[in-house]
Amino acid sequence: MSATFDFSGRTVVVVGGTSGINLGIADAFARSGANVAVASRSPEKVDKAVDQLKAHGTTVLGAAFDVRDIDGVKTGLQTFHETLGAFDVVVSGAAGNFPAYAKDMSSNAFRSVVEIDLLGSFHVAREAYPHLKKPGASYIHISAPQAFLASQLQSHVSAAKAGVDMLTRSLALEWGGDGIRVNSIVPGPIAGTEGMARLAPTPALKDAVTNSVPLKRDGSPDDIANAAMMLASNAAGYINGTVLPVDGGWHLAGYSAMMMSLADAFAALQKST
Ligand code: COA
Ligand code: NAP
Repeated sequence: MSATFDFSGRTVVVVGGTSGINLGIADAFARSGANVAVASRSPEKVDKAVDQLKAHGTTVLGAAFDVRDIDGVKTGLQTFHETLGAFDVVVSGAAGNFPAYAKDMSSNAFRSVVEIDLLGSFHVAREAYPHLKKPGASYIHISAPQAFLASQLQSHVSAAKAGVDMLTRSLALEWGGDGIRVNSIVPGPIAGTEGMARLAPTPALKDAVTNSVPLKRDGSPDDIANAAMMLASNAAGYINGTVLPVDGGWHLAGYSAMMMSLADAFAALQKST
């Protein structure tokens, strides 16, 4: 269930907004009256997301680009700006993940995640900046607990998302004078998402995740969307440069415990094959 916010007539861009958590964020903003634009690599996923979002009756645009390609990002965001005007809110959350030990990863495997999560976030920020409402825009990165909690099988994601959170803090300083606020949201385990399917691929691991959350439940896309709308609202007008876990308290202890279970399960799987 979404909290009540009114973003009527506002322009919200969600990069990586065609599935999972980010689509949930785009949907919540559209339900709250915003005109919404979403982007990701797959044209099919973009079309499907646009169809879903249009059901809420506001203007919806989509574009297919890879955040690793700065020219594609530039053209896509320009198109959004031409139709929807200055951006009130940008949510930047394109990401890739798979469990793998550092010693077993190729250079290209590590690079792929760093280039999508970190370099891609920089590309989106750089190319969104000219189109952000000044003053007044809210810029939000979707980060992850790996940014500040070490775990096995996630060296690539940890390196990339730690960089994303430092990008948040750097941009908060650089853009503060323009009246743009920049913050990160750190989702906990969100049920039904690709991220969860990759890091908790069995029923036993899913249960281990749920039990490791102090609130004893997985999150939902609406939990994250509510935090994004709060950060984008006037109520958060003095919140800038913050990294905000929205995770039922998972970062306090549960995340690291759960990732030990995943590492054990992964080791057992490797032994059996
Ligand atoms: N273990 C080890 N290496 C892996 C891997 C795994 N499970 N999955 C992919 N790789 C390696 C590939 O082998 C390749 O390296 P190589 O060229 O040395 O063989 C490298 O990663 C890039 O893979 P590729 O499939 O070509 O990359 P891509 O750009 O098409 O896709 C990924 C990027 C790999 C991150 C892909 O998983 C993806 O598109 N993810 C998006 C969805 C997602 O992860 N959602 C969850 C978000 S939390
Ligand atoms: P998801 O459904 O796979 O969402 C990822 C989105 O990014 C998709 O729209 C995907 O679409 C897009 N994308 C991936 N690579 C891209 C690229 N190179 N260029 C442009 N777009 C790209 O995953 P999710 O689990 O909901 O995760 C969403 C965000 O939440 C991520 O930032 C993730 O790190 C974070 N997070 C998730 C969890 C969780 O429990 N799921 C927990 C903590 C943090 P295409 O395939 O079409 O490109």
